[in-house]
Amino acid sequence: MTAPILRRLGGLRTLTDRWQAEGTRIAVVPTMGALHAGHLSLVAAARAGADRVIVTIFVNPRQFDNPDDLAKYPRTEGSDAEKLAPLGIDALYVPDPDQIYPEGFSTTVSVAGVSEGLCGAHRPGHFDGVATVVSKLLLQTQARRAFFGEKDYQQLMVVRRLVRDLDLPVEIVGHPTVREGDGLALSSRNQRLSPAARARASALFAALDAAAREIARGAPVGATLQQAHRAILAGGYASVEYLELRSAADLAPLAALTEPARLLAAAHIEGVRLIDNVPVAPARGAS
Ligand code: PAF
Repeated sequence: MTAPILRRLGGLRTLTDRWQAEGTRIAVVPTMGALHAGHLSLVAAARAGADRVIVTIFVNPRQFDNPDDLAKYPRTEGSDAEKLAPLGIDALYVPDPDQIYPEGFSTTVSVAGVSEGLCGAHRPGHFDGVATVVSKLLLQTQARRAFFGEKDYQQLMVVRRLVRDLDLPVEIVGHPTVREGDGLALSSRNQRLSPAARARASALFAALDAAAREIARGAPVGATLQQAHRAILAGGYASVEYLELRSAADLAPLAALTEPARLLAAAHIEGVRLIDNVPVAPARGAS
């Protein structure tokens, strides 16, 4: 049976109230559509970890710092619904804009600390937009579990922090990045790459992966990051926005691998901004 597509909060609430009364556990996978295999793996994980699964599609204008980026964001509801059909979700929530931002909407959820630096430094207001819409979607869907990809690692940290700080009754589940065969992280933005840029785009992951291995085996962080920076540019990227080693737990900057870490980068290729990150684990027995 195809899942109902709901555009109004009232219709969603009728369903979720009934599911709550039946004692079933609801999971949500928030998305902005343009679904790819990364999203579908989140949906499959949600399906395995809850009784009822809601997927949301909402292209959230408040998290775009660049109007051009918002205008170019792919809107593919029909094919998204087709991709979801075999996964057996229980509802597709595609809220009309006024269901998220009604007339007079005046509240912003702003998470300090983890939202600063990295993408936060380059995309003013982005994480306020994310935190605000995610808060609304978690409350509107009454989900008890919510699934997010690790590709947007800083976003995952922001969402974990807001849920903890606001005592929202929902468990945030992070899911590993899904990659193409050559290592490129799946992203809706990949659709905007020309064939030539697509062929070179995996240089970002290759550089991160090589640097993470070097750092894990004890190479100095500064010199290794400089080498990775050069490799990304040599691989065909026009610029590197950031490339940093951060604590995996709280995104604090790390000058040395003293704890489980994440190596995160954003870079531009043919005017398309791509982000990626990889885990970096200290060798066992290292302090
Ligand atoms: O990762 C995304 O697609 C978006 O940032 C999210 C979490 C759906 C909020 O709009």
